[in-house]
Amino acid sequence: MTLLLAINGAGENWAARPWTERFAARLPGRVIVDAAGALETPEAVRYAAVWKPQPGLLAQLPNLQVIFNLGAGVDALLADPTLPAHVPLVRIVNDDLTKRMTEYVVMHVLLHHRQQLRFVAQQAAKVWHAPDQWAAGDVRVGLLGLGELGRDAGEVLSRIGFQVAGWSRSPRVLPGMQCFSGADGLTRFLARTDILVALLPLTPDTRGILNRATFAGLARDGVLGKPVIINAGRGGLQIEADILAALDDGTLGAATLDVFETEPLPPSSRLWSYPNVTISPHNAADSSPGALSDYVVAQILAHEAGQPLRNVVDRTKGY
Ligand code: NDP
Ligand code: OXD
Repeated sequence: MTLLLAINGAGENWAARPWTERFAARLPGRVIVDAAGALETPEAVRYAAVWKPQPGLLAQLPNLQVIFNLGAGVDALLADPTLPAHVPLVRIVNDDLTKRMTEYVVMHVLLHHRQQLRFVAQQAAKVWHAPDQWAAGDVRVGLLGLGELGRDAGEVLSRIGFQVAGWSRSPRVLPGMQCFSGADGLTRFLARTDILVALLPLTPDTRGILNRATFAGLARDGVLGKPVIINAGRGGLQIEADILAALDDGTLGAATLDVFETEPLPPSSRLWSYPNVTISPHNAADSSPGALSDYVVAQILAHEAGQPLRNVVDRTKGY
């Protein structure tokens, strides 16, 4: 059995060689092949562990049994029209990734709630001034997406005391959270939201959802003064020209962005230096490569023992 690794990530975590070594150590006796080299026996490949593989690559593997996407979002993979339709596609769902995303979301909700950007500016100007500080219970956080990541972040935010609501495709009932779904639910969800957090997958239905109309639908009577958006889902969810226009005209008060229409974010983007915009390099939830490898190996061993694969992507839904 051969495991093919095809990794094209930009961050330090994505160096190919340590990935090969990690899988070799966890699957002794198996052949681990890096797709960057020559693939001499494509017919021997049973499993592929991939992050943004070259389009067309997976279609060349006639005996492929499972594709493991080394991230939670599968949009890049599904964009390959040659992706073999009959091979199950498993995505990452693990505690390590989920907790890191929750850290990111909670950190940035608190940053806006506690007016930290204002204090950073005050420090630079050596200003000692203590403005009014409202309570977490006065702030309405809205999560676009109530999946693995949205639910966990929502639970922690609600424990801190925020008024938390979420929006999903199908109706949900979750403790401590007001749940909305569908197009009609979206309007009502936005109207009660001060801080909007996007944790949606990128699909044809969600592309561009962070747009002018969405921003205009957010609550305008909140304690923050103006609504705030946080996008840690995918860059394709947002229309950056609309974010800038909404910041310019005061429809939005601030934005925290981890993902962008084009990554890396081009130096020419006005977002880089916009006041009240915080930017991170698509690493809201950079998961530990060790934890990801353990997850893939556990699934391979379970599959070989005749157990069902977990977290298989529903290709009809696109996530
Ligand atoms: P899940 O598949 O577990 O959850 C997706 C959620 O989005 C579900 O609640 C789903 O609704 C909802 N949803 C999907 N389509 C729609 C729609 N058209 N309308 C309303 N709701 C919709 O995904 P995860 O929580 O695991 O991950 C979410 C995304 O986060 C990933 O797809 C990825 O793009 C991104 N991500 C970003 C990272 C980063 O570092 N920035 C790291 C990891 C993930 P329903 O419950 O009805 O199915
Ligand atoms: C993911 C990501 O989808 O890192 O896991 O963006």
